[in-house]
Amino acid sequence: MQYNVIKNADKIIKKSPYLVQNPYDYKNKWNTLFNNNNPICLELGMGRGDFIINMAKKYPNTNFIGLEIVDSQMVKAVSRLSNQNLNNLKLINIDAREIDKIFGKEIDTIYLTFCDPWPIKKHEKKRFTHISYLKLYDKIFKKNKHIILKTDNKGFFAYSLESLSQYWYVFDQISLDLHHDEKNIDNIMTDFEKKYYEEGRPIYYLDASFNN
Ligand SMILES: C[S@@+](CC[C@H](N)C(=O)[O-])C[C@H]1O[C@@H](n2cnc3c(N)ncnc32)[C@H](O)[C@@H]1O
Repeated sequence: MQYNVIKNADKIIKKSPYLVQNPYDYKNKWNTLFNNNNPICLELGMGRGDFIINMAKKYPNTNFIGLEIVDSQMVKAVSRLSNQNLNNLKLINIDAREIDKIFGKEIDTIYLTFCDPWPIKKHEKKRFTHISYLKLYDKIFKKNKHIILKTDNKGFFAYSLESLSQYWYVFDQISLDLHHDEKNIDNIMTDFEKKYYEEGRPIYYLDASFNN
């Protein structure tokens, strides 16, 4: 997907106190950065960050990390955070493929929200629920694995259900229309989700885990 390029986005995000400038230095030490032993949840491809920012506000006793590769997307999150004081939120500006170099077995939950579906078969390996990513997640989950996924893309959802179940995840919750089932699901909308919700498109949701 192409995003509008924002001039000097890299310089703007580097000035933010929320950005972890040297995330590779914190492998196995993220609890020291947060200064507590609370659970750590990671969103891959947070985009403009509304979801992870609002999660951090709603759950002050959980630590959140928003990961995003595109500077011009992350800059929106940084500007939303400019007058906030959230001790339980950090941002990292790296490629998701690097996560095992950034984290040891420290992560409790991974959020995959409206990630690029990569519909063409030859791009399958880029899907965040491809087995190569599931193996990567194994390296950073604490004892148990927990993934929450939301998407508007039926094909990607079907693919993810299959990929996760073949990898022995079990589904604690599944919805084929999240906004009609929401009474039973604790939901905070992402930026993309708000747009799709307004367009009346169904949102697919799954909560999957594997307990060792
Ligand atoms: C469709 S947007 C969704 C953004 C946000 N999660 C939401 O729901 O509003 C997908 C985001 O994932 C990011 N992304 C895609 N591949 C990535 C990768 N390999 N590493 C980190 N971010 C990635 C893109 O730059 C983009 O911001």
